[in-house]
Amino acid sequence: MRLEGKVAIVTGAAGSGIGQGVSWALAREGANVVVSDAHPKRPFEVAEKITSETGREAIGAVCDVTKADAIDKMVKATLDKFGKVDILINNAGGNKLQQVVDMDEEVWDFVLDVNLKSTFLCSKAVLPSMIKQKYGRIVNLSSSIFLVGSTDGEAHYTSAKAGVVGFTRCLCREVGKHNVTVNCIAPGLIMNEFLLKIYPQEYFDEFEKDVPLGRSGKPSDIAGAVLFLVSDDGSYMTGQTLSVSGGWTLY
Ligand SMILES: NC(=O)c1ccc[n+]([C@@H]2O[C@H](COP(=O)([O-])OP(=O)(O)OC[C@H]3O[C@@H](n4cnc5c(N)ncnc54)[C@H](O)[C@@H]3O)[C@@H](O)[C@H]2O)c1
Repeated sequence: MRLEGKVAIVTGAAGSGIGQGVSWALAREGANVVVSDAHPKRPFEVAEKITSETGREAIGAVCDVTKADAIDKMVKATLDKFGKVDILINNAGGNKLQQVVDMDEEVWDFVLDVNLKSTFLCSKAVLPSMIKQKYGRIVNLSSSIFLVGSTDGEAHYTSAKAGVVGFTRCLCREVGKHNVTVNCIAPGLIMNEFLLKIYPQEYFDEFEKDVPLGRSGKPSDIAGAVLFLVSDDGSYMTGQTLSVSGGWTLY
């Protein structure tokens, strides 16, 4: 119970991947959790399950993280309910594969907004209360792709995820004096239902040949790193980017 009494917001928490996995892990360590997602129903369903199985208070919140108004409303609802925000996990993300030569400007903006601008907007919204209480833990989800690039039509996504690393490094310097840490996780390939639907099994088999640990990741692999960063175990780390990729990227 490393997070007893803490309050966490997880964005993009109602999918089948990292966001939901992290929400469960935070609750199992004792945190109360705001399960935030753009989906109109799933945040409430996930929150109800977390509450009934862990005994922690989880609440659902519908929030599109590209919209400042919606984020402010979600953070206000958190403060009204729990009186504070200790932990923010900037997990929500999205992609739409297009080669640069064919890329629509709107697609570029969409991918930059949902992966990078969202990280700025959500961090900005929670910082006043974290600074006031002189405690905060922010973890941003980048991607290992920012180190290696991609031929799959991900120039916008890769740019956004590299931007998340830069944002992390600047924000950690701005808020360190308030005992707010800001770190980043760069996952490798982490299985979820969506990926299993869009790629054939051969894609994963081929990918896994390049992974020293010989397998794709699971949301719980990322959750373990998040728990380290947000608990007292990680209290002297800030501005860092952890590659949690089974060794797929080494730096
Ligand atoms: N899965 C991977 O292999 C992988 C690899 C590297 C990085 N990442 C990053 O990790 C994070 C989690 O990825 P995941 O694949 O595990 O997905 P996930 O299951 O955590 O789901 C993402 C969730 O984000 C929500 N979402 C999308 N747009 C939103 C918006 N505008 N506002 C609020 N919510 C929104 C979706 O409804 C979905 O529930 C993302 O930032 C992703 O880019 C994932």
